Amino acid sequence: MDPAPTISTQGLTRRFGELVAVDGVDLRVSPGQFFGFLGPNGAGKSTTIKMLTGLLAPSSGRIEILGLDLQKNPVDVKRQIGVVPEGMALFGRLTGSEFLNFAGRMYGLNRETAAQRAAELLDFMQLADQPKKLVTDYSHGMQKKLAMAAAVIHGPKVLFLDEPFEGVDAIAAGTLKAMLQGMIARGATIFLTSHVLEIVERLCSHVAIIHQGRLVAQGSLEELRAGVAAQTPAVSGKVSGDGSGDGSRSPAERMTLEQIFLRTVGGERHAEQELSWLG
Ligand SMILES: Nc1ncnc2c1ncn2[C@@H]1O[C@H](COP(=O)(O)OP(=O)(O)OP(=O)(O)O)[C@@H](O)[C@H]1O
Ligand SMILES: [Mg+2]
Repeated sequence: MDPAPTISTQGLTRRFGELVAVDGVDLRVSPGQFFGFLGPNGAGKSTTIKMLTGLLAPSSGRIEILGLDLQKNPVDVKRQIGVVPEGMALFGRLTGSEFLNFAGRMYGLNRETAAQRAAELLDFMQLADQPKKLVTDYSHGMQKKLAMAAAVIHGPKVLFLDEPFEGVDAIAAGTLKAMLQGMIARGATIFLTSHVLEIVERLCSHVAIIHQGRLVAQGSLEELRAGVAAQTPAVSGKVSGDGSGDGSRSPAERMTLEQIFLRTVGGERHAEQELSWLG
C-alpha cells in the first residue's frame, strides 16, 4: 500500500471568466518526495500552487495537505507548510532581520527562537552584511532569498516554491539546492515549479507536467521516460545521444527531462518555425 499522500487533489479546477486555467487536476505527492511541477508559460502552475497553499480559492475540486482538507482547516495546514509564491509581496519598510523575525513570530516561534533562526538564515543566504538595508531596497535576487528564508523559518513539513531559481546567482542557487536536499534528507516534502529542467532533473524524484490546465503526465522520472517511449515508437535511435556510449541503456532510457518535456507538450514543432524577417 502506498503511504497516505502529503499533497493530493481531486478535480482541482480554477476558472478566470471564460478561461479554465486549471482543469480537473488530480495530483498525488507522497511523503518525502522532491516533486517538480512543470509546464509551458501559462500552463497553470502558479495558479495551482496558489490554490495548494490557500492563497487562491479553487472554482471546484478538493485539496488535501498532510491529510487535512485545506478548505476546512486552512490555519492548521498553513502552520505546517512554507511557500514562496510567484510575485511574492514582502514588507518593504523592514530590514531583512526584522522581516524574518516577524515571519518567525507569525508562525508561532518564541522571540528567542525567531531571533536565532533569523540570524542563521540571513547568514546562510548571504544577506547578513548590510543589516540596515530595507527590504524595499533589496535587489530582486536578494528579495527572493529573503522570501525563501521566511518560508523555512518554522521548519515546515511541506515546502512550495514557485520558480525558486529564477533570478538568483549561481552561488545562491548552490546554497539553495543544498538546503532543499537537506530538508528532503530530514523527511520534508518539496513541491516546486521551475523552467530550469536540468536542475529539476538533478533534484526531483517525481515530476508532473501540466499543459493548458490539464495534467498530461505524472510519476517518477523513469515512469515518464517509459511513458514517452511507449507513445513514440520513433524514439528508438532518434534521440540524440551524448556520444558517451552508455550501451547498457536504450535511447529512450537516456532521454533527458527536457526531451521528455518537449515531447509531452509538443514543443518540438514550434522550434522548427521561423520568423522570416529576422536575419
Ligand atoms: N488573476 C488572473 N486573472 C485572469 N487570468 C489569470 C489570472 N491568473 C492567471 N491567469 C491565467 O491563467 C493561466 C495560467 O496562469 P499561471 O500563472 O498559472 O501559469 P504558469 O504555468 O505559472 O505560467 P508561467 O510559467 O509563465 O509562470 C494563464 O492563461 C493566465 O493568463
Ligand atoms: Mg507561473
